[in-house]
Amino acid sequence: VGGRIRPVTPTELATHNTQNDAWLAIRGRVYNITHYLPYHPGGPEELMRGAGIDATQLFDKVHPWVNYDSLLAKCLVGPLRFDLPSAE
Ligand code: HEM
Repeated sequence: VGGRIRPVTPTELATHNTQNDAWLAIRGRVYNITHYLPYHPGGPEELMRGAGIDATQLFDKVHPWVNYDSLLAKCLVGPLRFDLPSAE
């Protein structure tokens, strides 16, 4: 069963900032990193620095060579979107 891909606003992203429920955005894509935390080579604490935010700059500062989109393919929530239609 494939996950539903849907847009995420920065406000919603910000609410997912705990180790039990952690999302992060890189280059306009939001990922649920909760299940990846234990496997992050830099440790969960380092990865949590990017939780709930657009972590693009942080990510690029540490390891721009890492293929995050491939590693987190199954963790994709959807695109980061500032404007959402009010009717849903
Ligand atoms: C390694 C921090 C996000 C995947 C590391 C290391 C640090 C770090 C400090 C170095 C560990 C060491 O060499 O001892 C962070 C921070 C992040 C972040 C602050 C917040 C944005 C991510 C993401 C992924 C990722 C989103 C991919 C899903 C990796 C991988 C390594 C690594 C694969 C090993 C890289 C290598 O040795 O070439 N991280 N990380 N990290 N991280 Fe992250």
